[in-house]
Formats: sequence, structure tokens, C-alpha cells
Amino acid sequence: MQYFEIVGGTRLKGTVEISGAKNAALPIMAASILCEGETVLRGVPDLADVRQMVLLLNKLGVRTERDADGTLRLRVEDEMNAHAEYELVSKMRASVCVMGPLLAKRRRAQVAMPGGCAIGDRPIDLHILGLQTLGADSDLVNGDVLLKAKKLKGAEIFLGGPFGSSVTATANVMMAACLAEGRTVIAAAACEPEVVDLADFLNACGARITGQGTPEILIDGVAGLHGAEHRVIPDRIEAGTFMIAAAITNGDLELHNARMDHMRAVVDRLRRVGLIVERGEKGIVVSSSRRLEPVVITTQPYPGFPTDLQAQAMALLCLADGNSVITEKIYPDRFLHVGELNRMGAHLRKEGPTVIIEGAKRLIGAPVMASDLRASAGLILAGLIAKGTTRVHRAYHIDRGYERIEEKLGKLGANIRRLNEA
Ligand code: EPZ
Repeated sequence: MQYFEIVGGTRLKGTVEISGAKNAALPIMAASILCEGETVLRGVPDLADVRQMVLLLNKLGVRTERDADGTLRLRVEDEMNAHAEYELVSKMRASVCVMGPLLAKRRRAQVAMPGGCAIGDRPIDLHILGLQTLGADSDLVNGDVLLKAKKLKGAEIFLGGPFGSSVTATANVMMAACLAEGRTVIAAAACEPEVVDLADFLNACGARITGQGTPEILIDGVAGLHGAEHRVIPDRIEAGTFMIAAAITNGDLELHNARMDHMRAVVDRLRRVGLIVERGEKGIVVSSSRRLEPVVITTQPYPGFPTDLQAQAMALLCLADGNSVITEKIYPDRFLHVGELNRMGAHLRKEGPTVIIEGAKRLIGAPVMASDLRASAGLILAGLIAKGTTRVHRAYHIDRGYERIEEKLGKLGANIRRLNEA
């Protein structure tokens, strides 16, 4: 087991290359199950979650190869197995993205029901509802969701849930509908850039999808899909994390391969905090104004402020000049980082899905425990500015979604090391 040791206080400066988006790459890799021939993906980040998806796809008869330049090649070689087992699914919820492709291409899918999650309740009822509406029978067998269909038929599906749209439910239904008979309309669809990237990939494979990026996606079913070449979009959550790293350390950064048009809500909030954010030749240029204003943030489905940047924004606002408020509207219990930040001298008070943040003069280094991917990013950011040394334990959480984070931060001047637990 490893942990990060961070000595705070360095202003970050320089250029950072943003990796491809984890949350676009994972469903696109799963979509290769639908395709005849080879799928060639560029910009797929080297992350623990990507390696986990590769393991799952190999089990499902998809051969995968990584070229020296990082290009990922995928080809279906055996369609016998349609069972995504608990051992694999329990390690990564995004495994559920194989459900739609398996059902559409192999006419059955047995996928372990994902269990509990550190960030809160995460049911998959909308995934099942959407696939049932396309004509699948579903059953729960030994903790697995078992879906079967002789054929899928296009339908109108309202996919809105208690917290709004669902990103991977939209992905699953959209992938299945590609091979269904006739037209499918997904209403209350997720509008995330990762959903658009998946639709663009599927269209390159011969699908007929329109309306991606809007709450109403139309899919006209086709007889079959072929492999295609595709470059995955940049990771807006990684980009947001580095923009906050600049703000929290009073630094100046250039983010290469970052898309401002995917981050409007984030840019809006960070500008209100006082960060200077501009479009650069190769991405986004940020510089700090040495003053952190308090703000109100409410997480929402895209194009609102992403829940995956909530913990990082909270770390930043711990040092704002006044009181801020963060309300979590997607995962109301996603606050395991609050106690850890308070251990570093923050003044945070949780009231239901809201946290009141009283700005502190400074944070103090301490040993803290990462509980999930984005909470650990928030703790690392707090460590970058804290007085003294911070140790963020359970580094494996961050490796799920950030490629070589200590190297990237180190190149910008951060004093951060990855160490083995004794
Ligand atoms: C995706 O998860 C992302 N993961 C998450 O990122 C992200 O936090 C989330 O979208 C929200 O933006 C991937 O793309 C792999 P949802 P997903 O279905 O699709 C409720 C990260 O850190 N809901 O959009 O699983 C659900 O409980 C990860 O990279 C239902 O009620 O999220 C939540 O409150 C963490 N029933 C809300 O909808 C369902 O069937 C949004 O969840 C599905 C979801």
C-alpha cells in the first residue's frame, strides 16, 4: 500500500498536459463489444480503472493490445461469455457499462449488481428500466442482474431519476438502442461531454445517433456496427483539479489539451473566486489573483458544476476570505473528505447535503485518509498549501482516475512524493 507525502507552500508554475477522459474512455471501451473488426482508441489514459476495464473485456472475449504510443486496440474474438462477475464489477462500478452492449450484441447480459459506494447510494434502476423498455426481460440471480431479449425494439424512454439524468444509464441505453429495431428516443438524457464522445464514437462505427449533448437523444437502430478509430476527449475533471491547484497555491499554469467549452460552470465559479482563466493556444491558461473570494456552489448534472470537482473546490474554499456554501445535489452523502479537511484546521460544518465553509487563515499538515477518488484529490490539493507535511493514505484511490499525479505536480514545483506504507 502507498501514500503521498506533501510539504506545502510552493506556488505551482508551468505547463501540464491533460490526459484523456476516464469517464469517456470506459464506456467507449465497453462499446467495442458491439463492433465487428478492430476498434482503435487514442488518448486512453493509463489508469487503474482502465486496466480494470481491460481485464473485464478480456473475460468477455475482447482481445486488447496497447501500442508503444499508448494506442489501445480492441477486437471481439469470442462471444460465448456474457457474465460480468462480482469479483470484477465490485472493483469498479463503471463495469456496468458492458450491460447494454452485451444485451444488444449477445442477446443476454449477466452483470453483478454493484454494491455500496463511499460516495453514497448508487442504484442502477434507470439502467434496468431503460433496457427493459427496449424489450429485455430482467431478473436478479445470486446478486447478478440477468437480462435477456430475443430482439430489441426501439422505444421512447424517460430516463430522469430523483437526482436528474444518469450518465452511464444514458450510455447503456444508447449503446443497446444502436442495434434495436426502429427508433429509440431517450428523454431526460445526460448531456455530459463524455456521453457526446461515446455517441460520436458509435456514429463512427456506423450508428445513427442525433441529439447527443441535449436532453433528447434519438437513435435509429442499424443491423450491425464495425470497429473505428477514435481519440478520446480530454479529462475536464483532471483539468478542473489542476486549475484549482493553481488557485490554491497562488500559481500560474498552462493546461495543454484542456477544453474550455466543456468547463463553463467550473470556469464561472473559479473566476468568481478570483482565478484568472483564459483560453490559451493549446488549452487553458490560469493565473491566481492572490485573493480567494468566498462563493456558493451547487453541484448539478452537466452543464452545471460537476460533483466530481466538489471535494477539490471545498479544499480551495477552506482558505477563502469569508464564508462559502457547497450543496451536493447529485450524491447528498459525498462528504467523507469533510472530517479529513477539518483535521487540517479547516472550519467546515455539514448540514444535510450542504457544507458551510468558514474561511480559515491557513491549513496545517496532518496524516489524512482518502476514501474515494475525488476526495483524495481534494486532500492532495489541501496538502499543497498546508503548513508542514501532509500524508494522504490509500494512494490507490487517486490512481483510479489521475495519471501519475505526483509526477505532473512535481514538474510544476510541488513537493510531493509517493511512498510505501511501513
Ligand atoms: C458518472 O457516474 C461518473 N462515472 C461519476 O464519476 C460521476 O460522479 C457521475 O456520473 C455524476 O456526474 C463514470 O462516468 C464512469 P449517474 P454514474 O448515474 O453514471 C442516481 C468519478 O469520480 N441514479 O449520473 O454512475 C445516482 O444515485 C465518478 O470519476 C439513480 O437513482 O452516475 C446519482 O445520485 C464518481 N438510478 C445520480 O442519479 C440509476 O439507475 C447521478 O448518477 C442511476 C443513477
